[in-house]
Amino acid sequence: MDKKMINFAVIGCGLMGKEFASAVGRWLHLSGLNFKPRIIAVCDLNDDAMKWFTDNLDTIKYTTNDYQEILQDNEVDAVYCAVPHNLHKKFYVDIINAGKHLLGEKPFGIDQEANQEIMNAIQNNPDVLVRSSSEIPYYPGSYEVFHKVKSDDLGQIMEVEAGFWHSSDLNPEKPINWKRIQKTNGEYGCMGDLGLHVLHLPLRFGWDLKLLGASLSNIMKERPNQNGEMQECDTWDNAVLLCEGSSEGNSFPVTVSTKRIAPGHANTWFIKVYGTKGSIEYSTQNPKLLRVMEYEPGGKQVWKVEDVPHQSAYESITGGIFEFGFSDSILQMWAAFCEELIYGKENMSQPLYCATPEEAQKSHALFTDALNYYKSEVNS
Ligand SMILES: NC(=O)c1ccc[n+]([C@@H]2O[C@H](COP(=O)([O-])OP(=O)(O)OC[C@H]3O[C@@H](n4cnc5c(N)ncnc54)[C@H](O)[C@@H]3O)[C@@H](O)[C@H]2O)c1
Repeated sequence: MDKKMINFAVIGCGLMGKEFASAVGRWLHLSGLNFKPRIIAVCDLNDDAMKWFTDNLDTIKYTTNDYQEILQDNEVDAVYCAVPHNLHKKFYVDIINAGKHLLGEKPFGIDQEANQEIMNAIQNNPDVLVRSSSEIPYYPGSYEVFHKVKSDDLGQIMEVEAGFWHSSDLNPEKPINWKRIQKTNGEYGCMGDLGLHVLHLPLRFGWDLKLLGASLSNIMKERPNQNGEMQECDTWDNAVLLCEGSSEGNSFPVTVSTKRIAPGHANTWFIKVYGTKGSIEYSTQNPKLLRVMEYEPGGKQVWKVEDVPHQSAYESITGGIFEFGFSDSILQMWAAFCEELIYGKENMSQPLYCATPEEAQKSHALFTDALNYYKSEVNS
């Protein structure tokens, strides 16, 4: 089958840039798709980071330290931009204005003002597809949650808990990096890093989220830098937001937690949705396990536990009994972005398109409200 090639450039060749390259390398894992991404150019200030790409991919025509070179290249159809948050505004706006399709990274601007400028550029370029990376909803268990809530099988929603928890920051000796400094990561701290991952599905369900209260913690106030000297670490480590969710005239509590210090948790993303007719719980901590309750009035309340099969949004060569992991979710997300780029949202073969700029914008409103709440109600 002749596949439609999408020529990509990567701007930012760090942790996430490499994940995209790996997904491109594993495209043969997906069955029956008639489109394929190809990375033809990479940009980073760090030449070693780009060397990893040229060592591992034979499709790269050039490397550059200046992303403007990529924006002027007519062969580049789309850009994956994975740079520190303080660069999102300038880079994303320039990419969109250059007419390149963009999969950007969260939080989509270091703050609400930066996010608004990105939204303005999107409005001025309606033919450019812009989406945000958010891969965890493509785990088979999350994908089941997506379908279950969308199907209205759960009855009236009574309560939702969702979170994303990390733990390596419990180690006070972990060196500081740009994600732990407000100037480069933003005032949102852990919310900017982890929050859109948590909010992607709740917002996709069409729930309005209004902030009721927030607890923000800066637990480790300093960390060693690369020279071993202690440096101020001024970002929020943990944030717990209590929101009022509402949907079709019904309201319910939604607890959103983003934590860099949740002892023992390595990339635990979870969602629990409780309804009058059914409930569902999923966590990447036990990535095959899905818990579902179907309830009939007067009947027993029994949780069913299932090992979910490997199947997610797009079919792959992997047998159903085999485990799914982080890099599989990245691959699935990229398939969703590429499919939407080729066929448009309405014609996709499955319904879970990538996180939208509007969803990112709503996440900014919530995080900004949380910062303001904390300043005025807790820390005044
Ligand atoms: N989707 C996810 O699961 C996930 C996970 C981690 C990070 N992220 C997001 O991805 C983005 C990047 O994070 P990361 O972990 O890959 O960071 P990283 O530090 O590993 O990589 C960032 C890269 O950007 C490069 N860079 C810095 N300034 C540049 C410039 N002026 N021009 C070109 N390149 C420049 C750096 O040299 C570095 O290689 C952030 O928005 C972050 O929030 C997403």
